[in-house]
Amino acid sequence: MISKQVEAELNNQIKNEAYSSQLYLAMASWAEVQGFEGVASFMYRHSDEERTHMLKLVKFVNERGGQAIVPALDAPPTQFEGLEALFEMLLNHEVEITNNINELVHLTLANKDYTTHNFLQWYVSEQIEEEALARTVLDKLRLIGGEKGGGLYMFDRDISGITVTSANDEMA
Ligand code: FEO
Repeated sequence: MISKQVEAELNNQIKNEAYSSQLYLAMASWAEVQGFEGVASFMYRHSDEERTHMLKLVKFVNERGGQAIVPALDAPPTQFEGLEALFEMLLNHEVEITNNINELVHLTLANKDYTTHNFLQWYVSEQIEEEALARTVLDKLRLIGGEKGGGLYMFDRDISGITVTSANDEMA
């Protein structure tokens, strides 16, 4: 059984993950319209992953005697200044999510809720990988000289196939 405080904060994280999914869907749509097919498919995939992060929390809250709340969300942006701005926004967003997860982990320890603490370890590892992935993509973009470089076509093609695992392999 989870405490009311842990339940409320897990519900808040459900909202954060749901917003991440919407934000990346908005990025996918923008990229597709701009003609960046690879970036669009990367973002569509990322949006789906965020939905699974949200669902995992929904099921956990309900299994532990709480009630998962499906949240109202703010509308994500519709326009982005460019690819570099978009991936910087993604990285900053993931850093924020990491901070949210760390706060949650701290709360479970303060509440001596070791079950939720254990459950959250999956998110702790996931955040390391997500931040690394965002940094790898930004590095790739900067390497080709950003928006003005001539390698945008190749960058777009590469991004379409990049995953957390392949990004980590590249850095190894
Ligand atoms: Fe679910 Fe990208 O954090």
